[in-house]
Amino acid sequence: MKIKVIAVDGYASTGKSTLSKRLADALGFTYIDTGFMYRAVSYFAQKNGFLKEDSIQEEALKEALHKTSFSWIKGKSSNVMLFNGSSYGDELRTLEVSSWVSKIAGFGFVRDHLVYQQRILSKLRSVVMDGRDIGTVVFPEADFKFFLVADAEVRAKRRFDELKAKGENVVYKDILKNVIDRDHQDSTRLISPLKKAQDALEIDTTNVSIETALEQMFSKINSKS
Ligand code: CDP
Repeated sequence: MKIKVIAVDGYASTGKSTLSKRLADALGFTYIDTGFMYRAVSYFAQKNGFLKEDSIQEEALKEALHKTSFSWIKGKSSNVMLFNGSSYGDELRTLEVSSWVSKIAGFGFVRDHLVYQQRILSKLRSVVMDGRDIGTVVFPEADFKFFLVADAEVRAKRRFDELKAKGENVVYKDILKNVIDRDHQDSTRLISPLKKAQDALEIDTTNVSIETALEQMFSKINSKS
């Protein structure tokens, strides 16, 4: 069986990116982190002054977003996302960006713009794509679907350690609040809410290592292909 798309969805900080990247590397597929795309749009909105205190200048963002583009180029160890020709890194993973991203991701015009590009990406290559709506909306016909869950406190601790290691001055309870808030906003939004696709395999990463979770994914893939 020729696998075209593997969808990995789930809650914030459940290990989606690490597992998807490992899976893509092992299979020789392209890994696409769709959360990074939503984060890039949030960062763009912030830098262009479209985010003010608690409000978003929706029309201005919509207008500006039309003129933006994403592309992916081969990097040293993985693919690099270019947004308007520039590459991004840790500046997209700050708590500041995390605090806006779910609001930005709730706009239909943002989702349409990004989903269109995500579908194009899969036309030329086999992909492992991670996000919130990949198995339900972007690729309902994906060859394999995984849905990751984990205890919120364990997830917050992982994200806290990650940000601390990068030198960010963060407080654990702020990270926990952000993880819980995003889960809520992502699951309750009207357009493409985060939910498990009926045919997805759920994996709980609370107490399992990356290796064990990866084994569960491979055993599913090997049983069907
Ligand atoms: O890495 P983490 O799990 O914290 O989040 P992410 O995958 O970087 O996604 C950041 C945010 O983008 C999510 O909380 C969602 O609001 C949004 N997102 C989405 O709406 N749809 C996707 N396919 C991917 C991300």
